Amino acid sequence: MSLQAESADSYTGLLSKDLPTEADRLRLLEKVYDAGTTEVLGKVGIEPDWNCLELGAGAGSIAYWLADRAPQGRVVAVDIDPRFIDAGYAPHLTVSSADITTEDFPDGSFDLIHARAVFMHLPRREEIVERAVRWLAPGGWLVLEDVHFLPAADSPYPAWQQVNGGWLAALAAQGIDLSWARRIPATLSGAGLDRVDVSVTPGGLGVDPVQDELLRIRMVQSGQSLIDAGLATADQVAAARALVESHPAPDVSTFVYSSWGQKPAA
Ligand SMILES: C[S@@+](CC[C@H](N)C(=O)[O-])C[C@H]1O[C@@H](n2cnc3c(N)ncnc32)[C@H](O)[C@@H]1O
Repeated sequence: MSLQAESADSYTGLLSKDLPTEADRLRLLEKVYDAGTTEVLGKVGIEPDWNCLELGAGAGSIAYWLADRAPQGRVVAVDIDPRFIDAGYAPHLTVSSADITTEDFPDGSFDLIHARAVFMHLPRREEIVERAVRWLAPGGWLVLEDVHFLPAADSPYPAWQQVNGGWLAALAAQGIDLSWARRIPATLSGAGLDRVDVSVTPGGLGVDPVQDELLRIRMVQSGQSLIDAGLATADQVAAARALVESHPAPDVSTFVYSSWGQKPAA
């Protein structure tokens, strides 16, 4: 398996949807993060007639949530590979297969645009933020969420330092920016949005049982690839798996930055 970035689709290699555990991993991700996301979207306040765009919709939970809250509007869910999204969920939900680094929408066509754990995967992400701002109607909201990873070497668990460090190195080699999340609020402001704000959700090893299950699946999914790429040994992977399964005292190593801003009224 190549761990090198090949295209605008960094969603390959360790994160390929052809891997047998990827659907489960994406659904666990939803289980971990949907509560925080829906709280932020609730602050923005979705109106029943809003037109919403969900970028990089993954396994679809937030697109479905938006469809439930905007029954007189419409929801467009875009993903470069939408195979896990149920296009029949609601008549006003459109599921579209597209690369958001090149896809375009008419100016002013959405009241809300949301993406979670997507922009960190994209090249030229600031440019895509500017395009997304164009797609917003005056008064519309852009909500971006991404994960900021702390350095693996600082983990209190030696078994985690090497294996998590290998995983982060593999993601970086796939073109994923592990610290872009921190720049989101300033980027939204620089792109002309008002009322920019942020909330942050901690995550990591031992933080709660669902996060540990997400990390366990990640280990199952990536362990052999890390060994093959020389990023960890089989013993280190086995020790890291045992550590995750022991639900250790928390080692907070990620922060999900949820940031939002509003396009000025015309
Ligand atoms: C980590 S998953 C997050 C899924 C979902 N947003 C969530 O948080 O549950 C990233 C998603 O972005 C999609 N993606 C990555 N690059 C993309 C691109 N260039 N255009 C559209 N979708 C992309 C992937 O296919 C994947 O479904």
